[in-house]
Amino acid sequence: MSSVVETSLIANQITTRDVSALLDMTREMTRREAARLIGSASAGLILPFATSRAQSKKESAAMLTRPIPSSGEKLPVIGLGTWQTFDVDPAHSAPLAEVLSTFVKLGGRVVDSSPMYGRAEQVIGSFARLQTKTIDLMQVHNLVDAETQLRTIREWEAQGRFRYLGVTHYEAGAFAEVAKILAREKLDFVQINYSIMEREAEEKILPLAQERGIAVIVNRPFGGGNLFSRVRGKPLPDFAAEFDCTSWAQFFLKWIVAHPAVTCAIPATNNVQHLEDNMRAGIGKLPDGKIRQRMIEALAKL
Ligand SMILES: NC(=O)c1ccc[n+]([C@@H]2O[C@H](COP(=O)([O-])OP(=O)(O)OC[C@H]3O[C@@H](n4cnc5c(N)ncnc54)[C@H](OP(=O)(O)O)[C@@H]3O)[C@@H](O)[C@H]2O)c1
Repeated sequence: MSSVVETSLIANQITTRDVSALLDMTREMTRREAARLIGSASAGLILPFATSRAQSKKESAAMLTRPIPSSGEKLPVIGLGTWQTFDVDPAHSAPLAEVLSTFVKLGGRVVDSSPMYGRAEQVIGSFARLQTKTIDLMQVHNLVDAETQLRTIREWEAQGRFRYLGVTHYEAGAFAEVAKILAREKLDFVQINYSIMEREAEEKILPLAQERGIAVIVNRPFGGGNLFSRVRGKPLPDFAAEFDCTSWAQFFLKWIVAHPAVTCAIPATNNVQHLEDNMRAGIGKLPDGKIRQRMIEALAKL
């Protein structure tokens, strides 16, 4: 086993404070609700939630799914990011409990979270706080010392502590390095930025992920929220109705998840209405290649 210090860099986007907030929030729910939410799940990165209630099953029935290539396990195409949006004082986390429970009710299963600087103790602490022995997916944050971290993650995976492993980045400037790792390492997941305004992943990363059988999680699907500034006060193009799209958020998300290499997108929100809007992007028709191009052109004209 590598030294515990190596595990300290196995981390992702958000701080331990975020994870604590997530947990404090669940503490405010009933035990049953918390168990249902955290269930067999994971922390530190991706939290697949159990959706055991019949109602959840019914409500989530229409959510599109994509298989993780390495296992065939299906994931809903819309997940939930937590960077910044969940970084709140636990005393003010009640609205986030509603966001999370609505997410689960609507069929959500993938939550992206992280103990950012996660010293080994913090990583282990994350396991304890999330009341789980298994974290489903652990990814090396922004390729930090990727080789060493992947070695450690693989060892932990062999011990059954993680089920999947991967790497993340959020800037196109790092894609050449990401591509090298995708070509060299056997990975289950890659998480990268991809949106109608940040399309560089199409050049190498998405085709390579498809070729190598690597699931793709898309971060920054709204360009960190900047896309909404571009369209504020502007009506949706009429042709949006052709692919069951009724809002700009759905327009941006459907554009992403329509790409065949994409497994799921993880928009962040701390607003229940926004969450419901985002989840609807995983339902109904998706645009084909021609319409996706038309969407780019429509946005450029605004
Ligand atoms: N590995 C990495 O290095 C890395 C880097 C960046 C991000 N990530 C992950 O990816 C997740 C998503 O990226 P992001 O948080 O940077 O940005 P994002 O999801 O592209 O945008 C989030 C912003 O969009 C707003 N928003 C969400 N849904 C909306 C809706 N339906 N209508 C209007 N506004 C809406 C949110 O505000 P409201 O809260 O008001 O809805 C928030 O300001 C992160 O949270 C994190 O989990 C990972």
